[in-house]
Amino acid sequence: MFFASDNWTGASAKVMQALAHVAASPPQAAYGQDEHTARATHLVREVFEAPDAQVFFLASGTAANAMALAHITPPWGGVFCHREAHINGSECGAAEFYGGLKLIGLPGIGAKLTHETLDEAVGRLRIGDAHSSQPGTLSITNLTECGLVYDAGEVAELSAVARRHGMAVHMDGARFANAVASLNQTPANLTWRAGVDVLSLGATKNGALIAEALVVFDPARASGLGYRRMRAGHLISKHRVIAAQFEAWLGDGHWLDLARHANAMAAKLAEGFAKAGVALAWTPAGNEVFPALTPEQDARLKAAGALYYPWPAAEPAHPLPAGTTVMRFVTSFQTSEEEVAGMLRAIA
Ligand SMILES: Cc1ncc(COP(=O)(O)O)c(C=O)c1O
Repeated sequence: MFFASDNWTGASAKVMQALAHVAASPPQAAYGQDEHTARATHLVREVFEAPDAQVFFLASGTAANAMALAHITPPWGGVFCHREAHINGSECGAAEFYGGLKLIGLPGIGAKLTHETLDEAVGRLRIGDAHSSQPGTLSITNLTECGLVYDAGEVAELSAVARRHGMAVHMDGARFANAVASLNQTPANLTWRAGVDVLSLGATKNGALIAEALVVFDPARASGLGYRRMRAGHLISKHRVIAAQFEAWLGDGHWLDLARHANAMAAKLAEGFAKAGVALAWTPAGNEVFPALTPEQDARLKAAGALYYPWPAAEPAHPLPAGTTVMRFVTSFQTSEEEVAGMLRAIA
């Protein structure tokens, strides 16, 4: 029963077929000059209703985030993010390494920022003082690192604050598919129509083998990004390997079918925990569930063969029972009904 992470998974059959097809096809031009890259780029533009968007395929979400932030933030700029954001705590300073910028972590329940917190924090910078970082970029993660979702209205409110302070807006969409599937709002409404300038669009956690993309909605902001990607060693020579995965993933709404399944499995898990009287740190919106387990419950679930990790909750939605530890359970397109049923039996 695998709930450790959604990047423990393999790839969907459709994505694997696309990869097998690419592997067996005659040679094609390298470094993104191939027909798969052209078609995948076209598909991204179609899905986001953004015909002018510039699309950069990459191999890792960390590279996508770091390059995006380095590109849209001056080295003296501050990047406002949640203090639990992946860019702040789990990327070993990659954004700072690529960009020279400074990450400024803010509080917020469930790794979610509010526009009030952002406004107050940016207001504390000393504008025009060479000793202080200057307003640079807002980076939000959707789904958040704690499995919560920003809807289009919340993204727009945060973006409005960022704009008022002259900042760009980046979204870490490692689980963007789960957010879209959860909200039933269009990709365009959740991103550029709500003020997002650059999206790190992750496919690896949701059915691709290794496939990430940077989507830059205003082409002017993308100027020079191709060079930056090359300098960073992320212009993959067999580019079609990543592009073909995106083609299969985005085509016919496959990405959302996969995400809907993952989200549905998480909802079932959450229901099972609630029925057994186990408190959840946050009400899950996507494919991550965070129950507060006693040592006895933890031992029982592990003995039943469940794999998951502790996830200390700095900012739970409500106080959690004493003596419990918050654990993270992540579902995926590969999570089976049987795995969830086995978990529910063990929880009960
Ligand atoms: C929210 C979030 N952003 C970015 C990443 C980075 O992805 P990668 O491991 O491909 O660098 C992850 C990976 O766990 C993540 O959870």
